[in-house]
Amino acid sequence: MPAWKDGKLGLPVREAVKLFPELEEYIDERGRLDLSNRKARILYNKAIAKALFGLEIEYHPRGLVTPPISRYLFLKTFLKGGEKVLEIGTGHTAMMALMADKLFNCKVTATELDDEFFEYARRNIERNLVKVRLIKSDGGIIRGVIPEGELFDVIFSAPPYYERPTRGVLTEREGVGGGEHGEAFSVRLIEEAMDYLKPGGKVALFLPDKKPLIKAIEEKGKALGYSARDVKFEVGTRWRHSLILEL
Ligand SMILES: C[S@@+](CC[C@H](N)C(=O)[O-])C[C@H]1O[C@@H](n2cnc3c(N)ncnc32)[C@H](O)[C@@H]1O
Repeated sequence: MPAWKDGKLGLPVREAVKLFPELEEYIDERGRLDLSNRKARILYNKAIAKALFGLEIEYHPRGLVTPPISRYLFLKTFLKGGEKVLEIGTGHTAMMALMADKLFNCKVTATELDDEFFEYARRNIERNLVKVRLIKSDGGIIRGVIPEGELFDVIFSAPPYYERPTRGVLTEREGVGGGEHGEAFSVRLIEEAMDYLKPGGKVALFLPDKKPLIKAIEEKGKALGYSARDVKFEVGTRWRHSLILEL
């Protein structure tokens, strides 16, 4: 498992500065990094991606600042290694697709809807010399995007999950899942996934600690014939969920 010297999954700020000296500008006299600053967050996460996971990531200046550690912990909840996987909505970093390829030796296909994010993702894939197949979505989730008849061991996503647009933090495409609790995107994903999974295949969703959202997706999954497992994991001060639906 990737780890920094002290055995913990994390990176001391002083080590991050060695990789990206520009970070110095955002550190106060007590050595604390100003994580409320977007540029500082991007640089620090770039350093984590590089030091812990050997990934070279370029972040879009206005996209979600995907944190590498939470994404790695999520992948570990359902990947054994070597699976054929599909990621829906890889974002501008393509972080999880890159990790699935480089760290879990998976055969990866990933999709993205947004034109600029797609271009960033393409360059991040190129920069890391991996074989991820990147497909542009025109608004579809799986159906109409992935060739009919193609089957995967796992389909995973950090889906948009807000009911309505949020102020500032995320673009609408990144954030809005729709439905009463933000579940609509995920529900459509798990419905469509049934035609693209091998027997015994699974869907894994990266979700926030939001009970009504998880319950809505879990109930729909069970009605469709999946068995459901909710794995809760801690990242820093926050709880995250990996909802795993198995056929
Ligand atoms: C919450 S972000 C997650 C990004 C990244 N995977 C991560 O882990 O941070 C959701 C992503 O899905 C993309 N997206 C939204 N609708 C999509 C669709 N129908 N097909 C593919 N990607 C989509 C958004 O543009 C955004 O990049």
